[in-house]
Amino acid sequence: MRVVLMGPPGVGKGTQAERMQALLGVPHVSTGNILRAAIKDERSSLGAEVRKFVETGRLVPDRLMGDLIGERLKRDDAAAGFILDGFPRTVEQVSILNDVLGRLGKPLDKVLMLVVPETEIVRRLSGRRTCGNCGTVFHLESRPPKLPGICDVCGSALMQRPDDNEEVVRERLKVYTDQTVPVADAYRAKGLLVAIDGLGDVSEVQTRLASGLGRA
Ligand code: AP5
Repeated sequence: MRVVLMGPPGVGKGTQAERMQALLGVPHVSTGNILRAAIKDERSSLGAEVRKFVETGRLVPDRLMGDLIGERLKRDDAAAGFILDGFPRTVEQVSILNDVLGRLGKPLDKVLMLVVPETEIVRRLSGRRTCGNCGTVFHLESRPPKLPGICDVCGSALMQRPDDNEEVVRERLKVYTDQTVPVADAYRAKGLLVAIDGLGDVSEVQTRLASGLGRA
């Protein structure tokens, strides 16, 4: 199954996509995770090129993102499908994805859009802590680590993402409204978009997403 999971920053896309992998048996492809891994790798020229965009909440240019997603979706593990998290984010990226999938002869099945009020987004982003080593995501209130500041999975230190500070979050929300809301409109017009209430605990939201895919 080929699914796009979209929604504003911090709505819970990554949290849910990790769980959907098991349900659908297809990989979670997060462009944010791919870019952060490139930034962490000091030898990566892609990382050096994209750092300034990611850390200030601006979008990486479509040309670079198109190359990146084209390469990723050609890999064997995506042959049976994928859950795409963070792409497409612009109307131009919708065309890029159409072209990539058209070449592969594999159209998109569904676009799920998580929706929560902005106050909840701010609460989720300000309390998010991420493992600097394995990337596991926690929340100070809704998913606290067993030991404060320490990852339950690998024991490394938890950190706040550089783009989760208040000023950058405001920029990310603006970019979402200006550039990504039109993506939702485009998919709605094609009859592919299903809006899902993202409020409630993680398992409740997971059940709603599964039902949006006809898998509940
Ligand atoms: P990206 O990493 O994609 O960031 P984002 O879309 O802003 O989304 P987040 O990762 O912040 O949040 P999320 O929705 O995954 O929420 P999460 O599950 O962590 O992109 C980062 C940057 O990369 C962009 O700004 C841009 O610069 C660049 N980029 C990426 N893709 C690009 C593209 N296509 N084109 C150009 N540039 C691109 O949850 C958040 C918190 O809430 C966590 O702490 C979690 O534990 C908690 N939580 C989750 N669900 C619940 C719940 N149900 N109840 C309570 N708490 C919850």
